[in-house]
Amino acid sequence: MISCGNSATEIKSYNEGINIIPKPLSLEVGNGSFKLKDGMSVHAAGQDEKTVAEYFISKINRATGFDIQVKENGCIRLELDPSASMDDEGYTLNVTPESVLVKAKTAQGLFYGMQSFMQLLPAEIESPAVVKNVPWVAQAVNITDEPKFEYRGLMIDPCRHFMTVDEIKKQLDVMALFKMNRMHWHLTEDQGWRIEIKKYPKLAEVASKRIEADGTEYGGYYTQEEVKEIVKYASDRFITVVPEIELPGHELAAISAYPELSCKGQSITPRTVWGVEHVVMCAGKELPFQFLEDVIAEVAALFPGEYLHIGGDECPKTSWKTCPLCQKRIREEKLFADKNHTAEERLQSYFVQRMEKVATKYGKKIIGWDEILEGGLSPTATVMSWRGEEGGIAAALTNHDVIMTPGSNGLYLDYYQGDCKIGPVAIGGFSPLEKTYSYNPVPDTLVAMGKENFIKGLQGNVWSEYLYTNDIREYRTFPRALAIAETGWTATEQKDYNDFIRRIDNACVRLDGHGINYYIPMPEQPNGSCDFVAFTDNVSLTFTTNRPVKMVYTLDGTEPTINSTVYNAPLDFTENATVKIASVLPSNKMSRVRTVTVEKQTLSPAATVEKKTPGLNMEVIDGTYLNMAELEKSGMKVADKKVIKDTRELITYRKFSEETMRGFKQYSAIATGYVDIPADGVYFFSSDLEEVWIDGKKLINNGGFVKHFCPTNKSVALSAGLHEFKVVFLGNSYGGYPTHWNDGSINIRKSDEESFKKIKPESLFH
Ligand code: ACM
Ligand code: ZN
Repeated sequence: MISCGNSATEIKSYNEGINIIPKPLSLEVGNGSFKLKDGMSVHAAGQDEKTVAEYFISKINRATGFDIQVKENGCIRLELDPSASMDDEGYTLNVTPESVLVKAKTAQGLFYGMQSFMQLLPAEIESPAVVKNVPWVAQAVNITDEPKFEYRGLMIDPCRHFMTVDEIKKQLDVMALFKMNRMHWHLTEDQGWRIEIKKYPKLAEVASKRIEADGTEYGGYYTQEEVKEIVKYASDRFITVVPEIELPGHELAAISAYPELSCKGQSITPRTVWGVEHVVMCAGKELPFQFLEDVIAEVAALFPGEYLHIGGDECPKTSWKTCPLCQKRIREEKLFADKNHTAEERLQSYFVQRMEKVATKYGKKIIGWDEILEGGLSPTATVMSWRGEEGGIAAALTNHDVIMTPGSNGLYLDYYQGDCKIGPVAIGGFSPLEKTYSYNPVPDTLVAMGKENFIKGLQGNVWSEYLYTNDIREYRTFPRALAIAETGWTATEQKDYNDFIRRIDNACVRLDGHGINYYIPMPEQPNGSCDFVAFTDNVSLTFTTNRPVKMVYTLDGTEPTINSTVYNAPLDFTENATVKIASVLPSNKMSRVRTVTVEKQTLSPAATVEKKTPGLNMEVIDGTYLNMAELEKSGMKVADKKVIKDTRELITYRKFSEETMRGFKQYSAIATGYVDIPADGVYFFSSDLEEVWIDGKKLINNGGFVKHFCPTNKSVALSAGLHEFKVVFLGNSYGGYPTHWNDGSINIRKSDEESFKKIKPESLFH
């Protein structure tokens, strides 16, 4: 192909067509296009129009290198008309070859109109530096637009893993591109308190820090000045920040600073492992109510929005059941159990209703997680439905506002979006882009009952237990947040996944402009991706991606480039090989490269065993060892020996009473013996234990990984019969995940089977 045309007029494939996300309510394509030129000007009469104009002009000038300014009679016009009959967030955008006209009732509407105009321009308009050879043209269109829902949010959790002020600003910039308008800021947790409260200085000094299992300190908090800076930055982008102060559970960090807030008042430290803490605020004492009122007084003054989120989720009732003061409160307030609720659930409701009054006193309406329904809902509360939609439905049926954020419907962005056996560890779940996109926040039941108007919108939750770096945080958040943005804005009947993923290719280039490390669908193998594939005669490797994306690969050990061979059919092997394979987006941006080793093996022979007895021999070594080197260096003094029936007994040898492992006498354990392989063949193994050995060779090495969905599956060719087998368990906590949470099983799949099965006790001998 001869490509000697003027490169300045070349349109990249991802810039073709209309790519606006979220898709506008009504869009007519006109004739021709508007060309942005150096020296052009923008007409913006009043101060509000000027502020919006300047926000966009600075972006446009940065990417184009042009000098565009606000001037009378500019050919790009921003017009505000407070009396216009349109939605407060709505706008009209008219682009012709001669002019651009944005009209809205509010500055927010103008801002959204200009965001749509920016999305008509090539995606490079989001670049932080001048981009040459881009035709800066916008298709002529006539758009009339408004959002379906008023609440289009993302929740961030800087408590488990901190987010700096700059990282939050970067995310706010991107949320604004896609017309998201709420950032829910989860500020307090068992693992860390993150907001400065002047009256309680120990929240910053003590509650913001935890000592990790490896002895390092992890911490961070936002000063009130930083909070104001974030709130202002968000507000400049028409994003309201909704602060969350959790109560009465998820409060261990505060309790660590002020122990008298809990029932027992014992001295305690912030939690270092994930999960739900049972040491909570006492509902019998007055002190927690006073403390929370003081906190709310300071928080309310920092956040101008109408809402305060008071948490309310996952508050275990164990301490309340045995606390004399909590029980006294139950008697005095007559919070007796009824057929729907326990006394302690009604005590939680009492707690929330008291805090609702406090919030009202400081001018705020409360939002709570759906547990606030238990024991009776506060009259003015908005419910955030996270455990499915049931809580949201129940709340709407009783005329309460609802924000839908069900984890099971793709709105928990800490879930996997592709095969868990490749890429960084996540909390679990599976919510690929299509699932997140397909969610409809209005349940049919509510439509049938005429209550759909109580659904105010939806929110993606980016819980951060497993978001060890900001790169991983962005990888989980994007592009799924864009699916939520579209569901929040675009009329349900206008949504179209195939068209959305076409527009996503363009949006990804905009995300590149902001340096966002978004997820790119990876080459995956059916029945579980595996980087080490053994075979005996021949093997065929199939790769797929979870949305249509080109894949390229090499077989000569070199790193693939965009020009490498395109994958379009299964790869067949009869000899050893190294496959290096990656996905490539239309922008030529590549995914991480996967290296898959293909190895020809002969069946490893079975052992001859004179006498076999069921079970494995286990040896126990006391102490905490974070890795194999530490265990080996310890001298490995055997403290106990035992025959175990099942590898799960490696974990249950010594039972823990508290899932935090507080005060637990840690140990490691090694089990040896034989595993009975039913038939000749290639077997894939999967385990979250530290190591798995077979026939004297280390097959699985999970060193350095969180012991949760370890991406270390491996295969081996084995003859039918008994094979030497060794399994190592290290009792410790790594990345906030105690290895005792693992179920200890080892899973196996014969290459011609589809699913993994646990190795059963009947297969283990010594
Ligand atoms: C939640 O995920 N605990 C609201
Ligand atoms: Zn109590």
